[in-house]
Amino acid sequence: MSEQRKDLPGEAELADMSRDDLVKLGTNLDGVELVHYADRWPVKGTRAERRAERGVAAWFVLSGLAGLAFVAVYLFWPWRYKGPFTDGELLYSLYTPMLGLTLGVCILALGIGVLAHAKRFFNEEIAVQQRHDGPSEAVDQKTIGALLGDAAATSGLGRRSVIKRSLGFAGGMFAVGAGLFTLGGLVRDPWAKSDDKDSLWHTGWKPESGEKIYLRRDTGDPHEVVLVRPEDLDAGGFETVFPFRESERHDPEKLVKALRRSDNPVMLIRLRSNQHVVKRKGQEDFNYGDYYAYSKICTHLGCPTSLYEQQTGRLLCPCHQSQFDVFTYGKPMFGPATRALPQLPITVDEDGYFVARGDFIEPIGPGFWERKS
Ligand code: FES
Repeated sequence: MSEQRKDLPGEAELADMSRDDLVKLGTNLDGVELVHYADRWPVKGTRAERRAERGVAAWFVLSGLAGLAFVAVYLFWPWRYKGPFTDGELLYSLYTPMLGLTLGVCILALGIGVLAHAKRFFNEEIAVQQRHDGPSEAVDQKTIGALLGDAAATSGLGRRSVIKRSLGFAGGMFAVGAGLFTLGGLVRDPWAKSDDKDSLWHTGWKPESGEKIYLRRDTGDPHEVVLVRPEDLDAGGFETVFPFRESERHDPEKLVKALRRSDNPVMLIRLRSNQHVVKRKGQEDFNYGDYYAYSKICTHLGCPTSLYEQQTGRLLCPCHQSQFDVFTYGKPMFGPATRALPQLPITVDEDGYFVARGDFIEPIGPGFWERKS
Protein backbone atom coordinates (compact mmCIF):
# COMPACT_ATOMS: atom_id res chain seq x y z
CA MET A 1 0.00 0.00 0.00
CA SER A 2 1.28 3.43 -0.79
CA GLU A 3 1.19 6.07 1.94
CA GLN A 4 -0.87 9.27 1.51
CA ARG A 5 1.51 12.15 0.97
CA LYS A 6 1.14 15.07 3.32
CA ASP A 7 1.46 17.75 0.64
CA LEU A 8 -1.43 16.41 -1.40
CA PRO A 9 -4.95 17.85 -1.30
CA GLY A 10 -7.51 15.80 0.57
CA GLU A 11 -10.57 14.24 -0.97
CA ALA A 12 -12.80 17.21 -0.12
CA GLU A 13 -10.35 19.61 -1.79
CA LEU A 14 -10.08 17.40 -4.84
CA ALA A 15 -13.83 17.29 -5.19
CA ASP A 16 -13.89 21.11 -5.29
CA MET A 17 -11.22 21.46 -7.95
CA SER A 18 -12.12 22.20 -11.58
CA ARG A 19 -10.96 19.96 -14.39
CA ASP A 20 -8.28 22.44 -15.42
CA ASP A 21 -6.99 22.58 -11.84
CA LEU A 22 -6.89 18.80 -11.69
CA VAL A 23 -5.05 18.63 -15.03
CA LYS A 24 -2.40 21.04 -13.77
CA LEU A 25 -2.15 19.24 -10.47
CA GLY A 26 -1.80 15.92 -12.23
CA THR A 27 0.96 17.05 -14.53
CA ASN A 28 2.86 18.68 -11.67
CA LEU A 29 2.57 15.66 -9.42
CA ASP A 30 3.82 13.39 -12.13
CA GLY A 31 6.81 15.59 -12.68
CA VAL A 32 5.47 16.53 -16.10
CA GLU A 33 6.67 19.75 -17.52
CA LEU A 34 4.44 21.16 -20.20
CA VAL A 35 6.88 22.84 -22.54
CA HIS A 36 4.18 23.78 -24.97
CA TYR A 37 0.39 23.51 -24.68
CA ALA A 38 -1.89 25.40 -27.06
CA ASP A 39 -5.28 25.10 -28.65
CA ARG A 40 -4.89 24.45 -32.38
CA TRP A 41 -7.98 26.51 -33.10
CA PRO A 42 -8.01 29.43 -30.66
CA VAL A 43 -10.57 31.18 -32.85
CA LYS A 44 -13.46 28.80 -33.30
CA GLY A 45 -15.46 28.31 -36.47
CA THR A 46 -12.93 29.67 -38.96
CA ARG A 47 -12.99 28.48 -42.57
CA ALA A 48 -9.68 26.70 -42.02
CA GLU A 49 -11.10 24.79 -39.07
CA ARG A 50 -14.18 23.77 -41.04
CA ARG A 51 -11.96 22.68 -43.91
CA ALA A 52 -9.90 20.54 -41.55
CA GLU A 53 -13.10 19.14 -40.14
CA ARG A 54 -14.37 18.18 -43.59
CA GLY A 55 -11.02 16.58 -44.38
CA VAL A 56 -11.24 14.31 -41.34
CA ALA A 57 -14.89 13.53 -41.99
CA ALA A 58 -14.04 12.57 -45.58
CA TRP A 59 -11.78 9.77 -44.31
CA PHE A 60 -14.52 8.45 -42.05
CA VAL A 61 -17.08 8.65 -44.85
CA LEU A 62 -14.69 6.82 -47.17
CA SER A 63 -14.20 4.16 -44.49
CA GLY A 64 -17.95 3.79 -44.05
CA LEU A 65 -18.55 3.53 -47.80
CA ALA A 66 -15.82 0.92 -48.12
CA GLY A 67 -17.42 -1.02 -45.25
CA LEU A 68 -20.75 -0.78 -47.03
CA ALA A 69 -19.13 -1.97 -50.25
CA PHE A 70 -17.61 -4.91 -48.35
CA VAL A 71 -21.04 -5.95 -47.12
CA ALA A 72 -22.47 -5.60 -50.64
CA VAL A 73 -19.62 -7.65 -52.16
CA TYR A 74 -19.97 -10.30 -49.48
CA LEU A 75 -23.70 -10.64 -50.05
CA PHE A 76 -24.16 -10.04 -53.77
CA TRP A 77 -20.92 -10.60 -55.69
CA PRO A 78 -21.07 -13.74 -57.93
CA TRP A 79 -18.96 -16.16 -55.88
CA ARG A 80 -19.89 -19.48 -57.44
CA TYR A 81 -17.05 -21.22 -59.27
CA LYS A 82 -16.64 -20.37 -62.96
CA GLY A 83 -14.17 -22.34 -65.03
CA PRO A 84 -11.45 -20.83 -67.22
CA PHE A 85 -12.65 -19.25 -70.45
CA THR A 86 -16.30 -19.27 -69.37
CA ASP A 87 -18.74 -16.39 -68.92
CA GLY A 88 -18.44 -14.73 -65.56
CA GLU A 89 -14.96 -16.10 -64.86
CA LEU A 90 -13.50 -12.62 -64.41
CA LEU A 91 -16.13 -11.54 -61.90
CA TYR A 92 -15.78 -14.81 -60.01
CA SER A 93 -11.99 -14.48 -59.86
CA LEU A 94 -12.36 -10.96 -58.44
CA TYR A 95 -14.54 -12.04 -55.51
CA THR A 96 -11.78 -12.57 -52.95
CA PRO A 97 -9.67 -9.56 -54.08
CA MET A 98 -12.77 -7.35 -53.80
CA LEU A 99 -13.43 -8.57 -50.27
CA GLY A 100 -9.83 -7.78 -49.32
CA LEU A 101 -9.82 -4.43 -51.09
CA THR A 102 -13.05 -3.12 -49.56
CA LEU A 103 -12.26 -4.31 -46.03
CA GLY A 104 -8.69 -3.02 -46.35
CA VAL A 105 -9.83 0.43 -47.45
CA CYS A 106 -12.41 0.46 -44.65
CA ILE A 107 -9.77 -0.19 -41.97
CA LEU A 108 -7.13 2.00 -43.55
CA ALA A 109 -9.42 5.02 -43.98
CA LEU A 110 -10.73 4.61 -40.44
CA GLY A 111 -7.16 4.59 -39.10
CA ILE A 112 -6.13 7.60 -41.17
CA GLY A 113 -9.25 9.46 -40.04
CA VAL A 114 -8.46 8.84 -36.38
CA LEU A 115 -4.85 9.96 -36.85
CA ALA A 116 -5.88 13.02 -38.84
CA HIS A 117 -8.38 13.97 -36.16
CA ALA A 118 -5.81 13.71 -33.39
CA LYS A 119 -3.29 15.68 -35.43
CA ARG A 120 -5.63 18.47 -36.42
CA PHE A 121 -7.85 18.95 -33.38
CA PHE A 122 -6.10 17.76 -30.24
CA ASN A 123 -4.26 20.53 -28.41
CA GLU A 124 -0.65 20.97 -29.37
CA GLU A 125 1.37 19.65 -26.49
CA ILE A 126 4.99 18.98 -25.74
CA ALA A 127 5.51 17.47 -22.32
CA VAL A 128 8.43 15.97 -20.45
CA GLN A 129 7.62 13.43 -17.76
CA GLN A 130 9.87 11.67 -15.26
CA ARG A 131 9.35 7.95 -14.73
CA HIS A 132 8.54 6.65 -11.25
CA ASP A 133 7.91 3.19 -9.81
CA GLY A 134 5.18 1.78 -7.59
CA PRO A 135 1.38 1.70 -7.66
CA SER A 136 -0.70 4.79 -8.42
CA GLU A 137 -2.05 6.84 -5.54
CA ALA A 138 -5.67 7.88 -5.27
CA VAL A 139 -4.82 11.39 -6.36
CA ASP A 140 -3.10 10.06 -9.45
CA GLN A 141 -6.09 7.97 -10.37
CA LYS A 142 -8.33 11.01 -9.99
CA THR A 143 -6.13 13.30 -11.99
CA ILE A 144 -5.58 10.85 -14.83
CA GLY A 145 -9.33 10.61 -15.14
CA ALA A 146 -9.41 14.38 -15.43
CA LEU A 147 -6.68 14.31 -18.05
CA LEU A 148 -8.56 11.81 -20.15
CA GLY A 149 -11.73 13.85 -19.77
CA ASP A 150 -9.81 16.92 -20.82
CA ALA A 151 -8.47 15.12 -23.89
CA ALA A 152 -11.99 14.14 -24.88
CA ALA A 153 -13.26 17.68 -24.33
CA THR A 154 -10.44 19.44 -26.16
CA SER A 155 -10.65 16.99 -29.05
CA GLY A 156 -13.78 18.86 -30.02
CA LEU A 157 -15.70 15.67 -30.81
CA GLY A 158 -18.59 16.87 -28.69
CA ARG A 159 -19.27 19.92 -30.80
CA ARG A 160 -18.07 18.63 -34.19
CA SER A 161 -21.12 16.71 -35.15
CA VAL A 162 -19.94 16.08 -38.74
CA ILE A 163 -16.89 14.24 -37.52
CA LYS A 164 -18.85 12.52 -34.79
CA ARG A 165 -21.50 11.25 -37.20
CA SER A 166 -19.03 10.23 -39.89
CA LEU A 167 -16.91 8.42 -37.29
CA GLY A 168 -20.04 6.64 -36.08
CA PHE A 169 -20.84 5.68 -39.69
CA ALA A 170 -17.31 4.38 -40.31
CA GLY A 171 -17.12 2.50 -37.00
CA GLY A 172 -20.60 1.09 -37.49
CA MET A 173 -19.90 -0.17 -41.00
CA PHE A 174 -16.60 -1.64 -39.86
CA ALA A 175 -18.36 -3.47 -37.03
CA VAL A 176 -21.09 -4.75 -39.38
CA GLY A 177 -18.47 -5.88 -41.94
CA ALA A 178 -16.33 -7.61 -39.32
CA GLY A 179 -19.37 -9.29 -37.77
CA LEU A 180 -20.68 -10.40 -41.14
CA PHE A 181 -17.31 -11.73 -42.16
CA THR A 182 -16.97 -13.69 -38.92
CA LEU A 183 -20.48 -15.03 -38.61
CA GLY A 184 -21.74 -15.01 -42.21
CA GLY A 185 -20.45 -18.48 -42.96
CA LEU A 186 -22.24 -19.91 -39.95
CA VAL A 187 -25.76 -18.87 -40.86
CA ARG A 188 -26.12 -21.10 -43.91
CA ASP A 189 -28.89 -23.58 -43.34
CA PRO A 190 -27.45 -27.04 -44.07
CA TRP A 191 -30.93 -28.40 -44.60
CA ALA A 192 -31.85 -25.85 -47.25
CA LYS A 193 -32.08 -27.58 -50.62
CA SER A 194 -30.54 -30.69 -49.07
CA ASP A 195 -31.65 -32.75 -52.08
CA ASP A 196 -29.78 -30.50 -54.47
CA LYS A 197 -26.50 -31.94 -55.71
CA ASP A 198 -24.79 -28.65 -54.83
CA SER A 199 -25.93 -28.75 -51.20
CA LEU A 200 -23.60 -29.60 -48.34
CA TRP A 201 -25.08 -33.09 -48.23
CA HIS A 202 -24.00 -34.20 -51.69
CA THR A 203 -21.05 -34.24 -54.04
CA GLY A 204 -20.78 -34.18 -57.81
CA TRP A 205 -21.31 -37.96 -57.69
CA LYS A 206 -24.98 -37.60 -56.89
CA PRO A 207 -27.07 -39.36 -59.60
CA GLU A 208 -29.57 -37.17 -61.44
CA SER A 209 -32.37 -38.27 -63.76
CA GLY A 210 -30.98 -41.81 -63.81
CA GLU A 211 -27.95 -40.74 -65.86
CA LYS A 212 -24.80 -42.86 -65.58
CA ILE A 213 -21.87 -41.31 -63.75
CA TYR A 214 -18.55 -42.52 -65.12
CA LEU A 215 -15.17 -42.41 -63.42
CA ARG A 216 -13.04 -39.98 -65.42
CA ARG A 217 -9.30 -39.47 -65.52
CA ASP A 218 -7.76 -35.97 -65.32
CA THR A 219 -5.40 -35.76 -68.31
CA GLY A 220 -4.43 -32.14 -67.73
CA ASP A 221 -6.75 -30.94 -70.49
CA PRO A 222 -10.03 -30.10 -68.75
CA HIS A 223 -11.98 -30.57 -71.96
CA GLU A 224 -10.66 -34.02 -72.80
CA VAL A 225 -12.78 -36.92 -71.54
CA VAL A 226 -10.98 -40.19 -70.79
CA LEU A 227 -12.98 -42.84 -68.95
CA VAL A 228 -11.46 -45.53 -66.78
CA ARG A 229 -11.67 -49.29 -67.25
CA PRO A 230 -10.50 -52.00 -64.82
CA GLU A 231 -7.59 -52.96 -67.09
CA ASP A 232 -6.21 -49.41 -66.84
CA LEU A 233 -4.91 -50.07 -63.34
CA ASP A 234 -2.22 -52.55 -62.37
CA ALA A 235 -2.62 -54.55 -59.16
CA GLY A 236 -1.41 -52.32 -56.33
CA GLY A 237 -1.99 -49.16 -58.39
CA PHE A 238 -4.21 -46.21 -57.77
CA GLU A 239 -5.57 -43.24 -59.66
CA THR A 240 -7.53 -40.10 -58.84
CA VAL A 241 -10.84 -39.96 -60.71
CA PHE A 242 -13.69 -37.49 -61.15
CA PRO A 243 -17.37 -37.78 -62.11
CA PHE A 244 -18.48 -37.52 -65.74
CA ARG A 245 -21.95 -37.51 -67.29
CA GLU A 246 -22.51 -37.99 -71.01
CA SER A 247 -24.81 -34.93 -71.02
CA GLU A 248 -21.81 -32.80 -70.02
CA ARG A 249 -19.52 -33.92 -72.83
CA HIS A 250 -20.05 -30.76 -74.88
CA ASP A 251 -20.37 -28.36 -71.95
CA PRO A 252 -16.86 -26.97 -71.26
CA GLU A 253 -17.94 -25.25 -68.07
CA LYS A 254 -19.37 -28.41 -66.53
CA LEU A 255 -16.38 -30.48 -67.65
CA VAL A 256 -14.04 -28.10 -65.84
CA LYS A 257 -16.28 -27.82 -62.81
CA ALA A 258 -16.34 -31.61 -62.36
CA LEU A 259 -12.53 -31.56 -62.09
CA ARG A 260 -12.35 -28.52 -59.83
CA ARG A 261 -15.17 -29.13 -57.40
CA SER A 262 -13.48 -29.69 -54.06
CA ASP A 263 -15.54 -32.67 -52.88
CA ASN A 264 -15.30 -34.63 -56.16
CA PRO A 265 -11.82 -36.24 -56.15
CA VAL A 266 -11.92 -39.98 -55.51
CA MET A 267 -9.04 -42.44 -55.25
CA LEU A 268 -9.64 -45.57 -57.25
CA ILE A 269 -7.40 -48.24 -55.79
CA ARG A 270 -6.72 -51.72 -57.11
CA LEU A 271 -5.66 -54.08 -54.35
CA ARG A 272 -3.81 -57.32 -54.95
CA SER A 273 -6.16 -60.26 -55.35
CA ASN A 274 -4.70 -62.18 -52.40
CA GLN A 275 -5.14 -59.25 -50.07
CA HIS A 276 -7.37 -59.81 -47.06
CA VAL A 277 -9.79 -56.90 -46.73
CA VAL A 278 -12.08 -55.91 -43.86
CA LYS A 279 -15.21 -54.24 -45.17
CA ARG A 280 -17.34 -51.78 -43.30
CA LYS A 281 -20.78 -52.87 -42.17
CA GLY A 282 -23.36 -51.78 -44.73
CA GLN A 283 -20.73 -51.22 -47.39
CA GLU A 284 -19.90 -54.81 -48.21
CA ASP A 285 -20.78 -54.41 -51.90
CA PHE A 286 -19.28 -50.93 -52.47
CA ASN A 287 -16.19 -52.34 -54.16
CA TYR A 288 -15.90 -53.95 -57.59
CA GLY A 289 -13.68 -57.00 -57.17
CA ASP A 290 -10.29 -55.73 -56.06
CA TYR A 291 -11.18 -52.12 -56.90
CA TYR A 292 -12.08 -49.75 -54.07
CA ALA A 293 -12.97 -46.06 -54.37
CA TYR A 294 -12.45 -43.69 -51.43
CA SER A 295 -12.94 -39.96 -51.11
CA LYS A 296 -9.61 -38.22 -51.47
CA ILE A 297 -10.59 -35.52 -48.97
CA CYS A 298 -8.95 -36.08 -45.59
CA THR A 299 -11.42 -36.38 -42.73
CA HIS A 300 -9.18 -34.27 -40.54
CA LEU A 301 -9.05 -30.87 -42.23
CA GLY A 302 -9.75 -31.64 -45.88
CA CYS A 303 -6.32 -31.92 -47.48
CA PRO A 304 -5.89 -34.41 -50.34
CA THR A 305 -4.74 -37.80 -49.03
CA SER A 306 -2.63 -38.58 -52.05
CA LEU A 307 0.29 -40.69 -50.83
CA TYR A 308 -0.41 -44.42 -51.19
CA GLU A 309 1.86 -47.14 -49.95
CA GLN A 310 0.65 -50.32 -51.63
CA GLN A 311 2.57 -52.86 -49.47
CA THR A 312 0.98 -51.70 -46.23
CA GLY A 313 -2.22 -50.35 -47.78
CA ARG A 314 -1.68 -47.02 -46.06
CA LEU A 315 -2.93 -43.75 -47.45
CA LEU A 316 -1.06 -40.78 -46.02
CA CYS A 317 -2.32 -37.24 -45.77
CA PRO A 318 0.73 -34.97 -46.08
CA CYS A 319 -0.79 -32.11 -44.10
CA HIS A 320 -0.71 -33.59 -40.58
CA GLN A 321 0.37 -37.15 -41.31
CA SER A 322 -2.96 -38.92 -40.81
CA GLN A 323 -2.81 -42.47 -42.15
CA PHE A 324 -5.78 -44.50 -43.39
CA ASP A 325 -5.85 -48.26 -43.82
CA VAL A 326 -7.23 -49.20 -47.24
CA PHE A 327 -7.33 -52.88 -46.20
CA THR A 328 -9.75 -51.90 -43.39
CA TYR A 329 -12.38 -49.68 -45.09
CA GLY A 330 -10.18 -46.57 -45.03
CA LYS A 331 -10.07 -46.52 -41.24
CA PRO A 332 -7.71 -43.95 -39.66
CA MET A 333 -4.68 -45.68 -38.12
CA PHE A 334 -2.48 -42.77 -37.15
CA GLY A 335 -2.61 -38.98 -36.86
CA PRO A 336 -5.34 -36.53 -36.01
CA ALA A 337 -8.07 -37.83 -38.35
CA THR A 338 -10.74 -39.76 -36.46
CA ARG A 339 -13.13 -40.84 -39.19
CA ALA A 340 -12.79 -43.37 -41.98
CA LEU A 341 -12.57 -42.11 -45.55
CA PRO A 342 -16.04 -42.28 -47.12
CA GLN A 343 -16.30 -45.01 -49.73
CA LEU A 344 -17.92 -44.51 -53.14
CA PRO A 345 -19.98 -47.46 -54.40
CA ILE A 346 -18.72 -48.48 -57.84
CA THR A 347 -19.27 -51.10 -60.51
CA VAL A 348 -18.51 -51.66 -64.21
CA ASP A 349 -21.15 -51.08 -66.90
CA GLU A 350 -21.96 -53.26 -69.89
CA ASP A 351 -19.32 -51.44 -71.98
CA GLY A 352 -16.60 -52.15 -69.45
CA TYR A 353 -16.29 -48.69 -67.92
CA PHE A 354 -16.26 -47.91 -64.22
CA VAL A 355 -19.42 -46.13 -63.03
CA ALA A 356 -20.57 -44.92 -59.62
CA ARG A 357 -23.60 -46.69 -58.20
CA GLY A 358 -24.59 -43.61 -56.22
CA ASP A 359 -23.25 -40.73 -54.16
CA PHE A 360 -21.32 -41.20 -50.93
CA ILE A 361 -23.66 -42.29 -48.17
CA GLU A 362 -22.10 -39.87 -45.68
CA PRO A 363 -20.68 -36.34 -45.88
CA ILE A 364 -17.10 -36.28 -47.04
CA GLY A 365 -14.22 -34.28 -45.59
CA PRO A 366 -13.58 -32.89 -42.13
CA GLY A 367 -15.88 -32.48 -39.12
CA PHE A 368 -19.47 -32.14 -40.13
CA TRP A 369 -22.19 -31.33 -37.64
CA GLU A 370 -24.53 -34.09 -38.71
CA ARG A 371 -21.95 -36.81 -39.27
CA LYS A 372 -22.33 -39.86 -37.04
CA SER A 373 -19.34 -41.99 -38.09
S1 FES B 1 -5.78 -32.56 -43.16
FE1 FES B 1 -5.14 -34.58 -43.33
S2 FES B 1 -4.10 -34.93 -41.52
FE2 FES B 1 -4.79 -32.94 -41.29
